[in-house]
Amino acid sequence: MPTAVVIGASTGIGLALCRRLVAAGWTVTGLARSPAGFESAAYRHVIADVRAPEYRQILATACESLPDVCVYATGIGHEIDLANPSHEADVFATNLLGVAITVEVLLPRMIAAKAGHLIGISSQADRVIDRHAPSYAASKAGMSSYLEGIALACRQHGVAVTNVRFGFVDTAMAKSPVKPFLISADRAARVLENCIARRPIRRTVPLRMAAVLWLFRWGSRLRIWAS
Ligand SMILES: NC(=O)c1ccc[n+]([C@@H]2O[C@H](COP(=O)([O-])OP(=O)(O)OC[C@H]3O[C@@H](n4cnc5c(N)ncnc54)[C@H](OP(=O)(O)O)[C@@H]3O)[C@@H](O)[C@H]2O)c1
Repeated sequence: MPTAVVIGASTGIGLALCRRLVAAGWTVTGLARSPAGFESAAYRHVIADVRAPEYRQILATACESLPDVCVYATGIGHEIDLANPSHEADVFATNLLGVAITVEVLLPRMIAAKAGHLIGISSQADRVIDRHAPSYAASKAGMSSYLEGIALACRQHGVAVTNVRFGFVDTAMAKSPVKPFLISADRAARVLENCIARRPIRRTVPLRMAAVLWLFRWGSRLRIWAS
C-alpha cells in the first residue's frame, strides 16, 4: 500500500488531498496544528507546528517508515500591517523555512533509498511583486526557486521534487475579494494526484491565471522603473 505524509493536512488543499489519497487506497499521515479534518483507519493525524523547534523531531518520528510521497501543503499569508509588521517573519518561517526543514529531515533518507517524491505547494504569486502581501509573494518566490533547484539536483538520484503553483483555490487562504479562475480544493487535490503519478518539476494551474499575472507583473515593474 503506498504511503504519504501531508504537512498542512487539517484544512483546505491538504485535507482534500488526504481524503482523495485514502479513498484511492493510500495510508496517509497528516500534520497540522489543529485536529484532523476527517477520520479513517488509513489516516493518522499528528499535531505539529512547522515553526516550533520540535518540528524536526516530530516529522522524523512521523516518517520513521519513509513515505513514498511527502506533500508540503502548509502555508499562511497576511496583508502587511505597515504600523506593525510583526507577522511578516511568521510567513517566511511557515512558507519557506518549514520547507527547508522538511527537506533537511526527509531528503537524505530519500537520496539514500534512491526513491521518494517531495511536493511543495507554492503559488503563482511567486512571480509577483505584491505591495499588499509582500511576504507571501516573496516567500513563495523563494519556495519555488528552492524546490526547482533541489528538483534538478535530485533528478539523477531517483528522487522527484515537484513545485506546484496554483492560482486561486477555494479555501480560507484565498482572501482576495476578486478570485479569477478559482478552482475547488478537490480539483487542486486532483492536480496533486496527477503530479504524484507524473512527477514533473513544475506544475502551474490554471494556466489562464498565469497569463493574467504576467500582465499584473508588468504593472509593478513599470511602477518600479518609473520611480
Ligand atoms: N487557496 C489559495 O488560493 C492558494 C493559492 C495558491 C497556493 N496556495 C497554497 O496552498 C497551500 C495550502 O493552502 P490552503 O489554500 O489549503 O489554505 P488553508 O486551508 O489555510 O490550509 C493551510 C494549512 O496549513 C496548515 N498550517 C498553517 N500554519 C501551520 C503551522 N505553523 N504548522 C503546521 N501547519 C500549519 C494549516 O493547519 P493548522 O492551522 O491546523 O496548523 C492548514 O492545514 C498553502 O501553501 C498556500 O499558500 C493556496
